[in-house]
Amino acid sequence: MVITKNYIAKGEGANRFEKIPVQIYETADEAVKAVAREIVDLVQMKAASSEKCVLGLATGVSPIKLYQELVRMHREEGVSFRNVVTFNLDEYLPMPKESEQSYHYFMHHHLFDHIDIDPKNIHIPDGTLKGDEIDKFCRNYEKEIEAAGGIDLQILGIGRTGHIGFNEPGSFITSQTRKVFLNDLTIKDAIKDFGSRDLVPTKAITMGVGTIMQARRVILMAWGEKKAPIIKATVEGRVSDSVPATFLQMHSNVQFVIDESAASELTRADYPWLVSKVDWDDKLIRKAVIRLCQKLKKPILKVEDKDYQDNGLSDLIEKFGSANKVNIAVFNDMQHTISGWPGGKPNSDDSTRPERANPYPKRVLIFSPHPDDDVISMGGTEARLVEQGHEVHAVYQTSGNIAVFDDYLYEMMDIADLFSLNMGHPDEGYKQVKEAIWKQKSEGGNSREILKYKTALREAEALAACRFMGIPSERVHFLNLPFYETGSVKKNPLGKEDIDIIVNLLREVKPHQIYAAGDLADPHGTHSVCLDAIMQAFDVVCEDDWFKDCYVWLYRGAWLEWEVEKVDMAVPVSPSELSIKRQAIYRHGSQNNGPAYPGDDPREFWQRAEDRNRNTADLYNKLGMAEYEAMEVFVRYKHRK
Ligand code: F6R
Repeated sequence: MVITKNYIAKGEGANRFEKIPVQIYETADEAVKAVAREIVDLVQMKAASSEKCVLGLATGVSPIKLYQELVRMHREEGVSFRNVVTFNLDEYLPMPKESEQSYHYFMHHHLFDHIDIDPKNIHIPDGTLKGDEIDKFCRNYEKEIEAAGGIDLQILGIGRTGHIGFNEPGSFITSQTRKVFLNDLTIKDAIKDFGSRDLVPTKAITMGVGTIMQARRVILMAWGEKKAPIIKATVEGRVSDSVPATFLQMHSNVQFVIDESAASELTRADYPWLVSKVDWDDKLIRKAVIRLCQKLKKPILKVEDKDYQDNGLSDLIEKFGSANKVNIAVFNDMQHTISGWPGGKPNSDDSTRPERANPYPKRVLIFSPHPDDDVISMGGTEARLVEQGHEVHAVYQTSGNIAVFDDYLYEMMDIADLFSLNMGHPDEGYKQVKEAIWKQKSEGGNSREILKYKTALREAEALAACRFMGIPSERVHFLNLPFYETGSVKKNPLGKEDIDIIVNLLREVKPHQIYAAGDLADPHGTHSVCLDAIMQAFDVVCEDDWFKDCYVWLYRGAWLEWEVEKVDMAVPVSPSELSIKRQAIYRHGSQNNGPAYPGDDPREFWQRAEDRNRNTADLYNKLGMAEYEAMEVFVRYKHRK
């Protein structure tokens, strides 16, 4: 899914910054097709000469789409994997094979159960081994790879620590299959699969860097923004055991296949004008000037001709005639993104405003993946839209029920229980819920019944936040999208019923303006799936008359903010509005004081939101624009089917 246009200098690794050949695709879907094609061509070429094809395989989020494509090719195109022998990179330790989190389960679930591979050709490190058995197994794993003739093609993902397999920083280039300890960041990243940190194993068996380096060909795949910094470090940085993936720079037949988001920090994407001749458009000019200002610590209007010349940007001087002219063009462009009228300013000239003046008032739909993302990311704008007289609807896509601690629910039930006792109408129901919570605490998991109450609790919190901002309850929609309702951190794939629910709401409200979370940091995270659901709904309604006159604005989720150069609308937030926003966030009591899913950031949600909005205002200020307390920013999305 590409939601903003990225300018990336052309050429496959053919620039002075990249030390590994990199192929960039617009989307992961396109990329995996190319990788699957290469695998299948190799398998078939080997089959034609009655040879086995030895594949090294990875697990994790990155190869899931690749395996789906291989399964599709087997089913629809009759591709056979009978001659394939596989060696998986790694397995957690300890880890029973049947556990849903095991790589054994993963590989069977995503690939092996759906193709015609001979089960005896499958090799996956054994997470059930103990003590000396582990070393013996590891030595034998190496021998088995050798006996199979070595790995023809090794598929890799990359961890944010720069690990390949589970070769964490500090691994030797010659390391072999062995027991390893997982890095702290790797453990944090695995929380999404295990539910909580204490359930994530701290050890694993992994093929070594040396084992991987011996593969005849290596393809490393990476998707999403979260991987962008480590991709840059690996592709452009120095070879170092502190980023084990950099050892791949020394492999003679390696290829990185990544999507545009994962490529976004490579020089060719971040500073494309340093790599090749570029076709300048407004956004790219803005980006170049902002980068220059940031580097020189100067506001836009103070940048001089020589600054452009010294930084590979003489092109812009030539195009505009002088530094002053470039500066003024970019200054005005940035200035026009700022608007205190997110729903458009009625009865006024809107030719340079981000939103159109008419119609007024507008019907506005604010999609929020979880019940608090709207207030965290755009609470100031949400309150303003209400205050400026628009018909604002808050739409909560998922229940967010797994993010409620049992203890918190218990406390709420206790309050209700005590109330009912005091009022002289003791209610057995509350007692029963409390008992069920006790039972669940001792047995683990999330029972359906308790999840139902957690859903209700989060709905009540969202209603309180909406009430606080002036959104009436009849304009608050809880979609409870089914894909989310698995009761565990692993979600179901999006289905038609998820899309239909959104389509029905869109057609019922016929909004003039839509806000949605444009979060791509985690390609399989709930935010990204929720955005995908909206995009698929847009595919259905895109010919409707109302949709043709609907503006779609994307905010970022709790984790990241849009880069200033991408922003189409920046809504200033005053100190008092920031405090309203904070209070709206507080209404989500179950997420305060250390939420169940904090991500990498130890700060409370309101703190992150404020820091982030203040930081954006500061960036604008440093560029020489007006000084605001805080700013919420949006990117306009134009749908193309
Ligand atoms: C998996 C493996 C790891 C992953 C890496 C990226 O077998 O060895 O190196 O490839 O942690 O994981 P995802 O793809 O989940 O981001």
